[in-house]
Amino acid sequence: MVRGLTSSWGIMIRFFVFFALISAILAQTIDKNVFKNCSRIDFCTRLRNTDVDEKLKYSADIKSYNSTKANIIVIPLKNGNGNKLNLVLSLLKGNKIRAKVQEHQSKRFELGDIVIIEKLKALPFKTSHIGDKVISFYPEDESYPYEVQVLAGPPFTVQFIYNKQVVVILDADKLVMENSDASEAFTFKVDFPGSTRLYGLLDHAYKMSLGKTNNGSDNSMDPFRLRNSDSWAYEANSPMALYGARPVIFGHSKEKTSAIFLHNAAEQWIDVNSEDTEQPSAYFMVERAAFDLFVLLGPTPKDIVRQFTTLTGRAHLPQIWALGYHQCRFSYKSQDDVKEVVALLDKNNFPWDAIYLDGDHTDGYRWFHWNSTTYTDPVEMLNNISATGRVAVSISDPHIKVEDSYDVYIGAKEKYFTKWKNGSNYEANCWPDLSSWIDFMIPKASDYYASWYSYKKFNGSTPALAGIWNDMNEPAVFDDNTEKTMPFDVLHAGKIPHGDIHNIYGLTQTRATHKGLMDRDEGKKRPFILTRSHFAGSQRYAAMWTGDNSASWEHFANSYSECMTANLMGMVFCGADIGGFIKDPSMELLQRWYQGAVWLPFFRGHSSRESKRREPYLLPKEVQTVLRNTLRLRYRHVPVFYTLFYEHTRTGDPIIRPLYYQYPEIEDMDTQVLVGTDIMGVAVTQPNVSSVEVYFPDKNSHWYRIDDDSAAISVGGIKKKVDVNITTSPVFYRAGSIIFRKDIPRKSAVAAIDDPFAVYVNLDQNNEASGRLYVDDYYSFNYTDKNNYLYVSFTYDNDLHALRMSTIDGDNTGLNALIEQIVINRLKVSDEGIFTSHQVIFDKTYDGIPLSGINIGPSLNENEELIIKL
Ligand code: NOJ
Repeated sequence: MVRGLTSSWGIMIRFFVFFALISAILAQTIDKNVFKNCSRIDFCTRLRNTDVDEKLKYSADIKSYNSTKANIIVIPLKNGNGNKLNLVLSLLKGNKIRAKVQEHQSKRFELGDIVIIEKLKALPFKTSHIGDKVISFYPEDESYPYEVQVLAGPPFTVQFIYNKQVVVILDADKLVMENSDASEAFTFKVDFPGSTRLYGLLDHAYKMSLGKTNNGSDNSMDPFRLRNSDSWAYEANSPMALYGARPVIFGHSKEKTSAIFLHNAAEQWIDVNSEDTEQPSAYFMVERAAFDLFVLLGPTPKDIVRQFTTLTGRAHLPQIWALGYHQCRFSYKSQDDVKEVVALLDKNNFPWDAIYLDGDHTDGYRWFHWNSTTYTDPVEMLNNISATGRVAVSISDPHIKVEDSYDVYIGAKEKYFTKWKNGSNYEANCWPDLSSWIDFMIPKASDYYASWYSYKKFNGSTPALAGIWNDMNEPAVFDDNTEKTMPFDVLHAGKIPHGDIHNIYGLTQTRATHKGLMDRDEGKKRPFILTRSHFAGSQRYAAMWTGDNSASWEHFANSYSECMTANLMGMVFCGADIGGFIKDPSMELLQRWYQGAVWLPFFRGHSSRESKRREPYLLPKEVQTVLRNTLRLRYRHVPVFYTLFYEHTRTGDPIIRPLYYQYPEIEDMDTQVLVGTDIMGVAVTQPNVSSVEVYFPDKNSHWYRIDDDSAAISVGGIKKKVDVNITTSPVFYRAGSIIFRKDIPRKSAVAAIDDPFAVYVNLDQNNEASGRLYVDDYYSFNYTDKNNYLYVSFTYDNDLHALRMSTIDGDNTGLNALIEQIVINRLKVSDEGIFTSHQVIFDKTYDGIPLSGINIGPSLNENEELIIKL
């Protein structure tokens, strides 16, 4: 009787779930029955609103601290139940501190050197006691003006002090460390005294500033979730988990910025209390693995980014083609389809650099094998692409079809897949149906996978297949019961539960792919990899895009916020599917999206198989004209992106920046992006508007509008409305900048390699301007291996009416860079003393002033300048 009831309930529930799934698919929205909220996750529900019993609060035995030979400080912690932990502190150079909380015999998984690449060495330190209850640790080296104070408690507190100001607090009031067979979950709270906003927690479709999640009511927003997920058709403006994770939070105010980074790749949920503007805080609930926290003391956003990228690494330079326009579709069904897209983009004069081969190019999703009926001659197709000076990028996922006649499977079957505890391979469904997943935590498995990218093994691949797209690498699994990913008890390397490393699975795939491409091209070419899943450190291997977004204005707006956040967390090469992957954008949205995307580093149009084809040449003629001009706008600025990428490799500085990064006094503007310091792009994220509100930063500055002929100038420090029409979205140059462009319309970035530069000198009110230009061979590692590059700075000399150029560094042997045009924009002062317009006072075509070779570089002595008289 009871069984009967249970099974009919079971049938009903299954029916309900099935019905909900079908409705979500038809409506093309994410299925919330599959992706859970906090109240359906045990540890999150248990830990979200619980107050820790007084007896369970830990105190720090500050008198019994000791330190190791390596200067690591260990402080015993204890609670009223007799539980013991250690607080382990390392004071690090560059104003960074590592704080771990550990059990005495910790079995928690540590990430080792997968994410952190800096060789960390704790600094020698001094201590001082403040009464009985407080001890302070600070570096012996006084050039680091910080200290860490531990207050005994209970609960104990760790205060991170920079320049005598407490900027971050690790607050043990809500510290829980579960340690049983059933759960390893832990929690902690961090406060950011003096911060007015919190930013970070990539990856969410959300505005930059983190909103308050926990207001104690039933309607409160869910915590931000970090669990890399195949979030097809995800919601806009939501804390739901997306494809990547960076457990990083910036606490920001106009005076200072500090940050924390939880070095842990397990699932986590974070409640944010940003409404406390005196002391905003974040409460982490982490499913398992190590409590390993880095505190970065800034004190500026720029310092934080540098500190974080020193820890986790930086992107290498892309080849120049990767900065152009990428054309994608799920999928180009056949090689003829691909060839037609190539021909029609060219015939209709749309510049582009790369075309994508999505799943349909494969033999039934058997990676490294071509579809034998539709892609019968890949070499001929790739030659065809290569003859136009372009490249292809093909998709390659980490799941491998279970099939005893599939060579990639055969070679991996015994030892290279993730396994259940009983030693059998984990098998589940994905694109090729039954699949197993490469275990990249096994070095030999990673190498095995990498070897498939060799020209020899990947039959039909040629150098024209220049990039690889690692998709579905959260990893995505077609199983709703596991929230579409690998169960957390599947094992890596025979012992590491998947749950311990879930958020770095994608990183480890891109690491292997990167090695594969490096080996394939004998280290001579910079690999291009696009990844969907990412974690801190992924920037060393890959570019990212924001996954399966939809054709909505909200998703377009979110792509700006997300990519600016990504840029501040090291993941600089970021973009979104232009137009939205799912559904069909209106022509207005599509045009606005292309216009906005010009300023995001990764620039790709992509669409799902259910949506209408929308290659630019298929659109109405007037839309084509707008898109052609928009693509050209991007191509003119490729040298700016390239120079910024180079500077990122040296400093970690982002390519694109929110206003608050450059102007800490401004909190944020989600629709405005700074490309470097000098270009400000504005995304028009509302339909049917004839003007948009723009914040012009810096009251001592001015901004030249350059996307139309209005010759308008805006004074900085104000918000004002600017006119827009559908043909362009607003773009401004900062007065005081010099911008290097390539203005000749070409069919690709590669085709413009030898083109001369046009130099835009945008004078400020003191008639001053300066800028930098970086040039190299655009594809190899000679820039790092041999210092073979041209890196120059220009300043405008008003007295001489000349440009002064000097070499910053680098050996420019064999490199060529010509200037053909110099345009001077000068602010004009009206009688009332108001700056009203800009004017071109000089526009001359030089017969090529050589910027390299005999005139500059090695032949230019230190402190010597090339003076270009105007
Ligand atoms: C999911 C990806 O997010 C999407 O971009 C791609 O087109 C499909 N997988 C098919 O490979």
